[in-house]
Amino acid sequence: MKPPQPIAVFDSGLGGLTVLRALCGRLPHEDYFYFADTRFLPYGDRPESFLKERGVRIAEAIARRGAKALVIACNTATAAAAEAIRAATQLPVVALEPGVKPAAALTRSGTIGVLATTRTLASERFQRLVGNHANHLRVLAQPCPGLAEAIESEGADSPRVAGLLDRYVEPLAAAGADVVVLGCTHYPWVSPAIAARLPAGTQLLDTGAAVARQVERRLAAGGLLGGGHGRLTVTTSGAPERVGPTVDRLWGEHLPVEHWEPHHG
Ligand code: DGL
Repeated sequence: MKPPQPIAVFDSGLGGLTVLRALCGRLPHEDYFYFADTRFLPYGDRPESFLKERGVRIAEAIARRGAKALVIACNTATAAAAEAIRAATQLPVVALEPGVKPAAALTRSGTIGVLATTRTLASERFQRLVGNHANHLRVLAQPCPGLAEAIESEGADSPRVAGLLDRYVEPLAAAGADVVVLGCTHYPWVSPAIAARLPAGTQLLDTGAAVARQVERRLAAGGLLGGGHGRLTVTTSGAPERVGPTVDRLWGEHLPVEHWEPHHG
């Protein structure tokens, strides 16, 4: 009998662990292969051509390694490379994008905020998302350079993260946004600190749970659900001895981290 194949999940770093957490909650008996492309963090400041090439290389290497589906747990990689990745692999691919559509349905003030990377907000895909779902609203698209890296390197409670959040979140509060989209998978790690800078009652939207539901639907439709043992393999293109302690801090328990590099086939 063939060994069970994992669901592969990748991000530029450890933001995608917020998606992995939602997946483990919804589909606890699946096996997971998580890849943090730490060597190239942050994706948010990189050119689209680089992200396409890198995304395709990761998807191809993951398919060769063996996986039953691929989750792009990164808004930036989705914005730049989802189409190229889909064209390059036969695996079912689930990508995520900022929750502009649910935000448009929830807002009462007519003003929504979107926190995301510079690359995500500059993408055609994001322009299309706003055009399709929020054209009648005021959309405050706030790029957050440095935030994903600071969350990883200095910690969610660090003064550096606090300073960046003051800069990026307070303008949304001042402009009267009543719904704020967390358009980068790193930001749910600091959602209490984001909420603390917004008026009480402001809704924060994170897409992890919706992605987990979508993965379940795709696997069910392909007859691919189940067969795993709840095993988690966490890998990085960076140095495991440096990434490991950050994984443990964010995840809240010890997870072994291995080195993995998506080589050309
Ligand atoms: N976590 C990634 C996202 O969802 C991006 C962080 C980065 O590498 O800039 O967009």
